[in-house]
Amino acid sequence: MILVIARGKEQVADYFSRTPPFPDGLNDESLDALVDSVTSLANRLEVVTVYQDNPRGLGHAVLTAREAVGDEPFALMLPDDHFIPRPLGSLVEAHVETGLASVLLRPVPQQMCARYGIAASRNLDATPLILSGMVEKPAAGTEPSNLAIMGRYVFPAAIMDLLENQPPGVGGEIQITDAMNKLAAREGMVGVVQESTYLDLGTWEGYVLANTYQGLQDPELAPRLKKLLAEHSDEG
Ligand code: G1P
Repeated sequence: MILVIARGKEQVADYFSRTPPFPDGLNDESLDALVDSVTSLANRLEVVTVYQDNPRGLGHAVLTAREAVGDEPFALMLPDDHFIPRPLGSLVEAHVETGLASVLLRPVPQQMCARYGIAASRNLDATPLILSGMVEKPAAGTEPSNLAIMGRYVFPAAIMDLLENQPPGVGGEIQITDAMNKLAAREGMVGVVQESTYLDLGTWEGYVLANTYQGLQDPELAPRLKKLLAEHSDEG
């Protein structure tokens, strides 16, 4: 797993560190389970951290990871977009079946389209859905569809060459969408439409709902959480 972070965001990398952030000589058995869960996650993952020193856009963040990614297909996950159930497996399947890049799509109301990259296709009803292109944050009335690109992608390594030569686009940033457009025009791209539950962790509401959902998945915490919610559901 490659984390692309800004300087000062080292806590994200520290979370996956093999050395738990506990003081030496700490001998509290009640913490054993916590220490085990942190170290077992760290042991299952090789985590590489890459610094993006200038915030020059999502495409630039991806390009920063070029050396760490190497010459293989890779998944791009924007961690503020959270889905239940997790959609990445379907994207990997679509990529393996077609050999094309794949991207997660979700229908959104027209007034929300200006917040996302919006997919374009010559045949929006086809399966698999082959995209001819996409428009980053389209102005009202110019949306090519109601299908928003969400934060999960599977790319061939070739996207890196396109990003390398990509001039800044909307907002003066190197946009992944611009490089995706070139890739889609050259060889096509598969859109995987899913109407799963979507939580935007960049908002207070999404952050609270995602944490509550995760709490409900924990067998020990779930009964206490349900009781708390039931006891206080009429308040506020
Ligand atoms: C980015 C992408 C956009 C995509 C969105 C999903 O935008 O540029 O195409 O729809 O993530 O969350 P951002 O949220 O960084 O403005």
